[in-house]
Amino acid sequence: MKKVIYNKCGDPNVLKIVNIDNIDLKGQKDKILVKVLFSSINAVDWKYRRGDFRFFTKMFNTDLGYDIVGEVINVPSNVVQYKKGDIILGLLPTLKGGAHSECVLLSVNQCITVNSAMDLKELAGIPMAGVTAWISLIEKAKLRKGQSVLINGGSSGVGHLAIQLAKAYGAEVTSVSSGKNELFCRQLGADHTINYETENFRESSKKYDIIFDVVSNTSVNEIKPILNPRGYFIDTNISFSLIKDMLLYPSKVKFVYVYPYKKALTDLYRLVEEKKIHVHIDKIFTLNQIVDAHKYAESSRTTGKVIIKINGAKI
Ligand SMILES: NC(=O)c1ccc[n+]([C@@H]2O[C@H](COP(=O)([O-])OP(=O)(O)OC[C@H]3O[C@@H](n4cnc5c(N)ncnc54)[C@H](OP(=O)(O)O)[C@@H]3O)[C@@H](O)[C@H]2O)c1
Repeated sequence: MKKVIYNKCGDPNVLKIVNIDNIDLKGQKDKILVKVLFSSINAVDWKYRRGDFRFFTKMFNTDLGYDIVGEVINVPSNVVQYKKGDIILGLLPTLKGGAHSECVLLSVNQCITVNSAMDLKELAGIPMAGVTAWISLIEKAKLRKGQSVLINGGSSGVGHLAIQLAKAYGAEVTSVSSGKNELFCRQLGADHTINYETENFRESSKKYDIIFDVVSNTSVNEIKPILNPRGYFIDTNISFSLIKDMLLYPSKVKFVYVYPYKKALTDLYRLVEEKKIHVHIDKIFTLNQIVDAHKYAESSRTTGKVIIKINGAKI
């Protein structure tokens, strides 16, 4: 079977597609074997490849690809939740990817069954980006109906799902994006948009209950004047300044760390079924085009998600 590997960190050309032995289920207890149909690119893919987290890359030998839509092809006898032929939606942990391959082993807790009639390529954009938005807004910030939410980076993979999630939970949403993406964010449901090229959201006259900093380019000191006293500031990237802010304001400032979280995945899938959330696909690449896919996603100018099509899946 084909799999994407990288033996050293560097530019996208370090990525290679190799043929490896088929995965054996022998000795596996709570894992299922899945033929991957679609995955997506997340920022962590090119950050690992580029060497941003060299320590983890060396220590955990991290494979790339975390989002999975696939078909169950083998199930050990102790697993009753899944059967051969089921279509699943899954998320691998950030320290142990591997979805950018033709087959993958998934723990039963890392996936849910989905309806095969759904748009499977769209679903592949949900797991990592969607669960990150869900943990941030629903769990960390305890989002309630009627609250005001600002999403810095509304056109990104995480941000475009966060806008729709916040709207689905009854929030009033302000999205920060470049001017060319304002309309896109409004079409996703944002009530207000701020063009970061012409306006500084930190100087807004409005106050927010939740500020979700997807692009991580601000600090608590900067947003304090626009955050309600009981509000939350959630960041997607850890830094010394964020750690300092978390220590100073432990109940207000949070870092989100995504992990395979069935409850979040189940709720996101429900919202997709109810047509309250959809994935905007920027571009689709095949597994053979993985180098181009990394180059494209790493530009950080994409809107929504970049999808990877595997095993000749139909689109
Ligand atoms: N901690 C975790 O567990 C976790 C999980 C998932 C993701 N993340 C992090 O979350 C971040 C976002 O990931 P992603 O996959 O959603 O990224 P992405 O889709 O690659 O982000 C690209 C988008 O960011 C927008 N953007 C770039 N600079 C901006 C700025 N200054 N202000 C507002 N928008 C800006 C771009 O729009 P324009 O062209 O309009 O600027 C583009 O639409 C990454 O840093 C990633 O590492 C963390």
